[in-house]
Amino acid sequence: MGKNLLLEHDHVPGIQSYEVYRKHGGYAAVEKALKQLSPEAVVEEVKKSGLRGRGGAGFPTGMKWSFLAKPEGVARYLVCNADESEPGTFKDRYLMERIPHLLVEGMIASSFALGAKSAYIYIRGEYFYVSRILENAIDEAYANGWLGKNILGTGYDLDLYVQVGAGAYICGEETALLESLEGKRGNPRIKPPFPAIAGLYGCPTVVNNVETIAAVVPIVNMGGDEYAKIGIGKSTGTKLISASGHINKPGVYEIELGVPVEEFIYSDEYCGGIKNGKQLKAVVAGGSSVPILPAHLILKTANGEPRLMSYESLADGGFATGTMLGSGGFIVMDEDTSIVKNLWNFSRFYHHESCGQCSPCREGTGWMEKILHRILHGHGKLSDIDLLWDIQGKIEGKTICPLGDAAAWPVAAAIRHFRSEFEEYVKHPEKIKDVQHYYRLNSLSEA
Ligand SMILES: Cc1cc2nc3c(=O)[nH]c(=O)nc-3n(C[C@H](O)[C@H](O)[C@H](O)COP(=O)(O)O)c2cc1C
Repeated sequence: MGKNLLLEHDHVPGIQSYEVYRKHGGYAAVEKALKQLSPEAVVEEVKKSGLRGRGGAGFPTGMKWSFLAKPEGVARYLVCNADESEPGTFKDRYLMERIPHLLVEGMIASSFALGAKSAYIYIRGEYFYVSRILENAIDEAYANGWLGKNILGTGYDLDLYVQVGAGAYICGEETALLESLEGKRGNPRIKPPFPAIAGLYGCPTVVNNVETIAAVVPIVNMGGDEYAKIGIGKSTGTKLISASGHINKPGVYEIELGVPVEEFIYSDEYCGGIKNGKQLKAVVAGGSSVPILPAHLILKTANGEPRLMSYESLADGGFATGTMLGSGGFIVMDEDTSIVKNLWNFSRFYHHESCGQCSPCREGTGWMEKILHRILHGHGKLSDIDLLWDIQGKIEGKTICPLGDAAAWPVAAAIRHFRSEFEEYVKHPEKIKDVQHYYRLNSLSEA
C-alpha cells in the first residue's frame, strides 16, 4: 500500500460520472462517516492520520479542525480553496477535472465532521470550465441523495456551492478568499481573529485546499492509523506533485512522501530525467514562492544526506541550504536556464498580483521587478544586487499576508545561490542573449 490513494482511478474511462465513480468504491467514505462514525470520530481519524494541509503551509489538518469554534446556534462553514494560482502548481485542477466526485465526497465527509450545513468550493476564474465539471458532479450527488436534506436518512443536511473567482492570486490567501466569497474586494484580513473563530460571514470557518479535502476520503476509508503508516515521519500519506520544466515527463504525480528527490527527477516512473540529456541546474520544489535550490542542494542536504520529497527533508538546513515542499509545484531547470530571467518573470507576477494593501509589498515588488529588468537588459550596477537583497529583507515578515514573503523568498534564494550569475549580467552586458522579445513585450504593454 503506498501511492495512488487519490489518483487510483484517474484513468478509468468515465470516472467523472457518478455511476463509474460509485462502481469504483465512490461515496463509501461518506457512508462510513455518516452511518458508522460520529463527527468527532471523523475529526479523530484525521488527527491520527497526521494529514497536513496540501495548500502550501503544511499545517496539521486535524489540529486546524479542532480549533473550530462551536457556539450554539451559529452556522459553521467549510470552504474549499480551489484558487490554485501558484505558478508551477496544477495538481488541484487535475484532480477536479479527472475525479470531481472525489472532491465532492471529501467535502461531504469533512463538512459532516465539522458540523457545517453549507459548504463552498471557491475556484479560480481561469478554471471556469472545471467549475462546470464540478457543478455537474454536485448535481449528480444531489440526484443520488448524497447532498441536500436528510442525507442517507441520518438527519444530516448539507448544501454545496461552487463560487468562481475573478482570477486573482491573492484570493488564494484564505482570508482574501473569504472576503471575495462575501462579494467584496479580495483583500487579506488582519489576523487574529482566525477563520476558525470568525471566518465566512463572521462565522467559524475551516478553509482547506482541494487535495487536503480529497485526502479525507482515503483517511476515512482506511482509518487514520493506516494512513499514517504511509509516508515518512511527520510527512504522512501521499502528495500530488505538479512537475514541469526541463524534464522528459512533465505532469501530475502522486508520490508517497519520502521518495528521494533524485529518484523523482531521474526515474522513469516520475519525471524521466532532464530533457535532451542536459545537466540539472536548479529546482523550485514547491511553487514559485519557495526558495530555489541549485542541483547539489536539491539532490542532497548540506550534510550529504539524500534529499527526500517530504516537508522535513526539503526544509533541512533552513533557507540557508534548504527550501519548502509548499504546494508541490516542482519546476526543474536545466543548465541553459537563466536564473535572473526566471526570477524577473516571478517578480513580475508578484508585482502584478500584490493587492496593494501593505506598502512594503505594493512598492517593494515593483522595485524588485524594475531592478531585475535593468540587470537582465544590461543596465544594472553591482550595487543593484545588494539593493535587491535589501528590499526583499524589508518586505519579508512585514505584511498582513504572506504574499510579501512569497515575493521576497525567491529573490533572496536566487542571490544566495546564484550571485555570480547576477554579477555576470552586470559585468558583461555584451554577452546577454535572448532578451529582445522582452523589450518588445514591454514596449507593447507600455504603448
Ligand atoms: C498569496 C497566497 C496565495 C495562496 N494561494 C493558495 C491556493 O491557491 N490554494 C490553496 O489551497 N492555498 C493557498 N494559499 C494558502 C491559504 O491561505 C491556506 O493556508 C490554505 O488554503 C489552507 O489549506 P490547507 O490547510 O488545506 O493547506 C495561499 C496563501 C497565500 C498567502
